[in-house]
Amino acid sequence: MTRYAKIIGTGSALPAKALSNGDMVALLATKGIETSDEWIVERTGIRNRHFIEDGQYASDLAFAACESALGAAACKIADIDLIIVATSTPDMVFPSTATILQRKLSEAAVARGEPSGAGSAAFDVQAVCSGFIYGLTVADAMIKVGSARRALVVGAEVFSRILDFNDRTTCVLFGDGAGAVVLEACEHEGQGPGILSTDIHADGKYTPILCVPGWVAGGQVTGDPTLKMDGQAVFKLAVGVLEDAAKTALARAGMSTQDIDWLIPHQANIRIMQGTARKLKLPLSKVVVTVDQHGNTSAASIPLALDHAVKQGQVQPGQTLLLEGVGGGFTWGAVVVRM
Ligand code: ACO
Repeated sequence: MTRYAKIIGTGSALPAKALSNGDMVALLATKGIETSDEWIVERTGIRNRHFIEDGQYASDLAFAACESALGAAACKIADIDLIIVATSTPDMVFPSTATILQRKLSEAAVARGEPSGAGSAAFDVQAVCSGFIYGLTVADAMIKVGSARRALVVGAEVFSRILDFNDRTTCVLFGDGAGAVVLEACEHEGQGPGILSTDIHADGKYTPILCVPGWVAGGQVTGDPTLKMDGQAVFKLAVGVLEDAAKTALARAGMSTQDIDWLIPHQANIRIMQGTARKLKLPLSKVVVTVDQHGNTSAASIPLALDHAVKQGQVQPGQTLLLEGVGGGFTWGAVVVRM
């Protein structure tokens, strides 16, 4: 018998406010900056994104995604002993967004007459757009060694808060959102269902090509608190490292791309996704694409796309998925999971 971390529920949440490319054209025009629907669609595949309202935070999106994932898993927050939130846009410097999320989920549960989830482990992982892959990897390891039985792994981001709306090369690319999965320990003969393999990496020398170089000191934000990116450098690096991580994760699972039913990549840019699928010799019909609707939601993009594919009936029980992400740091990784 092998112990696995099985996905028993998925959920996601998007802010109500949607902005089409036309809305972005109008917004940037108020600053005297030109962009166009054609440029954005041709270079990125993005048509729409969602932005959070003032007074809302990553934990609010995470809360809605988790309530939905817990419902799908027929679990209560009191059944969860580990919460991992992948985010680069936390509510506060500290405490972690995961602990804020635990409180919100517990308060809602208690208001419904259910037990609280207080006492579970809860922490954030910060690996930018690879954060959900990192979070799944940590949760899988903790479940395998028996230090957790049921985990919520969440990607939640409000990148609209860290965009420079005077920089057309970045502000049209990102959106806000959250996605979540419930993992449960289970034991079977054979391969899964559950997480079959993981592979994560980082190389800190690439910090300058994608970063938010601000920090808090002496009660002031010092440095620039908005996203800076060398898009072409990121693009070139992304396709290569995603191919490497995918191949390593597949080899660890004893699989080839032929065994994959769906590739669910980080949704940054349709051209990066097409390039990776081509290198892995996977047809585009096997790639889950939501970047057109959500833009790049960083750590939220993979669980958002997964939940979308589950709700659409694309992803079915028994199918094998290859999840992969790349982001600031540079960080990258892949997970093979059987549903
Ligand atoms: N509207 C109109 N024109 C624009 C815009 C815009 N929004 N942005 C840039 N341009 C112009 C540029 O100024 C440039 O004009 P010029 O030729 O007169 O100088 C021209 O378009 C081409 O610019 P490039 O930067 O060469 O465009 P490119 O084809 O490389 O596309 C892009 C840019 C979309 C950013 C691309 O490089 C890319 O997707 N890179 C990867 C980004 C990514 O995936 N980031 C997320 C990583 S994950 C994370 O951790 C956040």
